[in-house]
Amino acid sequence: MILVTGISGALGGLIFEGLRAVDGLDVVGGTRAGGTARRIDFEDPASLTEGLAGVDVLVFVSAGYAEDDVVLARHGAAVDAAARAGVKHVIYTSLAGSGDLMTIALPHRWTESRLAAAPFDVTVLRNGLYAEVPVGLAAAGAANAAETGVFAAALGEGRVSVVARQDLADVAVRVAAEVERDLAADGRSRHAGQVYELEGVTAIGGREIAEVLTEALGRQVAYHDVPLFDMRAALAGSGLEPYQVTHTISLFSNAKAGLLEAGSSDLEALLATEPRPVMEAVVEAAKAGYRSQSVTAVRGG
Ligand SMILES: NC(=O)c1ccc[n+]([C@@H]2O[C@H](COP(=O)([O-])OP(=O)(O)OC[C@H]3O[C@@H](n4cnc5c(N)ncnc54)[C@H](OP(=O)(O)O)[C@@H]3O)[C@@H](O)[C@H]2O)c1
Repeated sequence: MILVTGISGALGGLIFEGLRAVDGLDVVGGTRAGGTARRIDFEDPASLTEGLAGVDVLVFVSAGYAEDDVVLARHGAAVDAAARAGVKHVIYTSLAGSGDLMTIALPHRWTESRLAAAPFDVTVLRNGLYAEVPVGLAAAGAANAAETGVFAAALGEGRVSVVARQDLADVAVRVAAEVERDLAADGRSRHAGQVYELEGVTAIGGREIAEVLTEALGRQVAYHDVPLFDMRAALAGSGLEPYQVTHTISLFSNAKAGLLEAGSSDLEALLATEPRPVMEAVVEAAKAGYRSQSVTAVRGG
């Protein structure tokens, strides 16, 4: 039996739906929400003991969005519970190698080490950054770009390799299905001990986003780099949690250093089709960001 954690989340939900569509697999979902799925809360030991009963293959979706000590406690509890429950193979959704120096890498690399020391086989899916980074920047910058002809972001000359979340889910589905079949056939999977770098194959920087905005808005848009000092000051009043400010600044700092443009990826080898294009989503975001700002301005006026 395969269990996918975090199925109320975007990635966990896509993986669960993908596995359910594969013929002949016994798949259950886990979530803090419970309902018809098994209740799995990494912060509730009883839910892990009950929820992991009878599971052979665990698709362990990382549970970020908290301070590091909280994420480490969650992930450590999940690893320990999987070992106690006799899970045979864990597939963990981690962070791609290009993100090694980002602050969000710490809990991922810590979790990979804990998994490597555990008594089950492990496959690490090192997920690239979601396309939401340039999509969000394009959406947020559209109205200002339309007004001033400037798109400002703290990316320096760096470009960020990004990937469609659905591609990451498709790889997880393929790997989990093959692991389950391998276990049924001869006890150990071809994916055991593998670390797959699922870096995006498209890299997008400030200049590319300015080009998209130029096209979408029908006026010339120039890219201006924002100093990290100014970016941090702007984030301070943005309503983000303090740890989110840390992670956001770290992302832009790594981008400026040119570290987030990946050299190679295992994505194409593991996908049945070409990676989904991500630039279209940036174009759509640019148009939508401009439209929504226009509507607000009209309503506000
Ligand atoms: N590659 C990237 O660019 C990137 C960006 C941001 C985050 N991430 C990481 O990738 C993960 C999945 O991304 P997403 O887009 O699907 O995020 P999301 O939609 O916000 O989902 C958050 C996930 O965290 C799970 N979670 C939170 N607290 C939990 C707990 N106590 N026990 C068990 N699960 C818990 C949720 O599970 P339930 O709600 O179902 O319980 C859900 O699957 C994130 O959690 C984060 O670690 C990656």
